[in-house]
Amino acid sequence: MSINSAPAPAPLRIGLIGFGCVGQGLYDILQQQPESGFEIARIAVKSTTKARTLPLDRFDFQADDLLQDASLDVLVEVIDDADEAFRLVREALRQGRRVVTANKAMLARHLQELVQLQQQTGGTLLYEAAVCGSIPIIRTLDAYFGAEPLRSVTGILNGSSNYVLTRMGEQGADYAPALDEAQQKGFAETDPALDMGAFDPRSKTVILAAHAYGTFLQPDEVLNLGIESISAVDIAFAATLGRKIKVVAGLQRLPDGRVTALVTPLLVAPESPLYAVDHEFNGVVIEADFAGEQFLRGRGAGGHPTGSAVLADLAAIRQGYAYQYPKLHAAPLTYATDLELEIYLRTDEDRLIDALDFTEISEEADEDGYVVGYVALANLLRLRDKLREYGAFVVRTGQVRPLSSPVAAREFEDAL
Ligand SMILES: NC(=O)c1ccc[n+]([C@@H]2O[C@H](COP(=O)([O-])OP(=O)(O)OC[C@H]3O[C@@H](n4cnc5c(N)ncnc54)[C@H](OP(=O)(O)O)[C@@H]3O)[C@@H](O)[C@H]2O)c1
Repeated sequence: MSINSAPAPAPLRIGLIGFGCVGQGLYDILQQQPESGFEIARIAVKSTTKARTLPLDRFDFQADDLLQDASLDVLVEVIDDADEAFRLVREALRQGRRVVTANKAMLARHLQELVQLQQQTGGTLLYEAAVCGSIPIIRTLDAYFGAEPLRSVTGILNGSSNYVLTRMGEQGADYAPALDEAQQKGFAETDPALDMGAFDPRSKTVILAAHAYGTFLQPDEVLNLGIESISAVDIAFAATLGRKIKVVAGLQRLPDGRVTALVTPLLVAPESPLYAVDHEFNGVVIEADFAGEQFLRGRGAGGHPTGSAVLADLAAIRQGYAYQYPKLHAAPLTYATDLELEIYLRTDEDRLIDALDFTEISEEADEDGYVVGYVALANLLRLRDKLREYGAFVVRTGQVRPLSSPVAAREFEDAL
């Protein structure tokens, strides 16, 4: 019998929960590929009154009905409500079902529990779309680099902030018009806080840490500093050093074998592959002990790129694939925060400079209102909300060193 004469397997029946940008993107992709072997059998949405691109009888309005439908082979959860997404995904995994999600905020908060649940029930959860849209970073870390220790995983994981920074760099423009343009072109949300405040790439970093280092982090433990207060002065400062400012998420193994995670603006040199990752693109550099440097670049958001990652997960599920979390089972690395980071800080609030308690200052430009020097990571973690509140802008130079002296709380911090 020739290999071609084997009957095609029945299509995998999908229960799609959420029909917004990503849900609709997946639907489109499958419409364009009728032979893909996937059938969107049921679609659940929330609003009963919203105008739809499909006939109304295609929709369910209770996602729980899909959970109860045993004829569905896979559930795809792509809703915009992290709490509800967690409830649905947890329930599906409790039933031992196969689930694909794109919800990074939900995963970052609950990953450890969801991994344990899969081990207990035999359910499967895949989530390639949650980190960098179409870039296959999670499967690369989990499957390909599962056996190899990694020096670092460093990336531009948020297309919206990258677009704003690129436009500011190209035009010498200020933040507000660049953000406005990003919103008009659909590269930034109406409420840009999660993207511009680096909360979104922080969620993605937490997910990557589990696969790259076997380390479960809580989002709040990870330093995230955003670009809401960046100005043309800061871009110009970086340009005098021949660098660009990018929001970079960095996981790095330290010489003592622990791992650190930082999600902040960074001065990026032209030698880095991330230097040329501009506009709405994402990019990730993996430095592996034996393979050396690898670089992935692609579209990190949007209906089709994200739908493409969901499709890849569906194909993997059909082949029986599940994440192995190999580093978790080998030797998870301990998370380190007892470090000092070299930063450029621009602020007109002297009390912030005092409260940060620089251990070394190498440059101080009073007229431009900036300081360059080393600060304990613990102080940045403690004061990050104040930095935001007072409109300070921080960019890391990339230099990290062990803590030189114990961190003491500063009395005048209360006055801030
Ligand atoms: N957009 C991207 O490029 C992108 C990229 C990567 C990851 N993601 C993630 O993918 C997820 C979906 O994003 P999106 O951009 O597609 O969101 P979206 O465009 O806002 O669409 C959300 C969809 O979820 C539905 N929904 C909300 N609550 C629901 C509930 N309780 N039951 C059933 N349906 C519900 C909404 O229903 P109605 O239609 O009735 O309002 C809507 O169809 C999010 O977690 C997001 O972080 C998005």
